[in-house]
Amino acid sequence: MERKPAIVIRKLSKSFGKLRAVDGINLEVYEGEIFALLGPNGAGKTTTISMLCGLLRPTKGQANVAGFDVEKESLMVRKSIGVVFQQPSSDDLLSGRENLKMHALLYGMPSEGREERIDEMLRLVGLVERQHSRVKEYSGGMRKRLEIARGILHRPKILFLDEPTVGLDPQTRQHIWGYIRSLPEKEGTTVVFTTHYLEEAEQFADRVAIIDRGKIIAIGKPSELVSKLGGDTAFIKAKQPQKIASKLRSMKFVRSIKVGRNCVQVRVGDCAKNLPKMLQALEGVESIELRPATLNDVFIKYTGRGIREDSPEGGYWERIMNSEKGR
Ligand SMILES: Nc1ncnc2c1ncn2[C@@H]1O[C@H](COP(=O)(O)OP(=O)(O)OP(=O)(O)O)[C@@H](O)[C@H]1O
Ligand SMILES: [Mg+2]
Repeated sequence: MERKPAIVIRKLSKSFGKLRAVDGINLEVYEGEIFALLGPNGAGKTTTISMLCGLLRPTKGQANVAGFDVEKESLMVRKSIGVVFQQPSSDDLLSGRENLKMHALLYGMPSEGREERIDEMLRLVGLVERQHSRVKEYSGGMRKRLEIARGILHRPKILFLDEPTVGLDPQTRQHIWGYIRSLPEKEGTTVVFTTHYLEEAEQFADRVAIIDRGKIIAIGKPSELVSKLGGDTAFIKAKQPQKIASKLRSMKFVRSIKVGRNCVQVRVGDCAKNLPKMLQALEGVESIELRPATLNDVFIKYTGRGIREDSPEGGYWERIMNSEKGR
């Protein structure tokens, strides 16, 4: 079946003075798809989303959202979309419920079913009890949740979520994602979200574009991007790592090797099958730890660094390997 694009982006760029925040990106997002823009701070995610929402003029290139040109038909674009901004933008002086009501009126939602829909959204984000408090009395997480309710309220064709779950507790995050995941099937919504949480992209996106310094460096299904790397990583602790490494070099399923002072990091293709073989052939292994490949490894492959310094992937073994490099 031919998939229809909901968003078409051609050579889109945005410069701020000399800085190319978005640098000639090409992309198609299909109807009913959940699509992630994954990248580190300053990669250009928010700038891209702002252009797609018709809030920021591109310096060069075009983008078409829900069939409308983002520059020439920005009003129509805005009518077709819902946006959850990275920085909450609700009215502080109104209550949560009043904010939602105002949004409903702004989007011309018919009065029939409107209050019920607002109730549904308040339940979704767990703000029923605090719906009548002024937003300025909300906590950061509550503001974010209200923002999400507002973005979804009018049943937009395309939903943009810029770092939707930063600052939310894991339970709320899981709950809201459960709902967002159901939107394509239930309402035919297309969802584009940005994140620097690898797990979020891996878990919830049908496809992901990894973006760094304004450019898309890899695009595809998370599982395919990861499996293209050709293997998981094993960390082997041993007193004579050089000996281990030279043995490993002769094994054809070994993709790459890094040697530390008392540790070897090795990427093993088809790990489930090959790890036992590898271990049988090695002598002097003190311990071994296996780490399945993630999107962070994809990012490292293209950029030479991790997405986040503090990401769980940059864990114990990386620290050991890195601390040994300088010795
Ligand atoms: N209005 C602006 N004026 C000048 N520079 C800007 C402006 N907005 C963004 N930038 C710059 O453009 C680059 C991309 O910023 P952007 O906000 O798109 O990144 P991001 O990927 O959303 O990052 P984060 O993960 O921190 O939200 C950054 O270097 C930023 O400093
Ligand atoms: Mg941003």
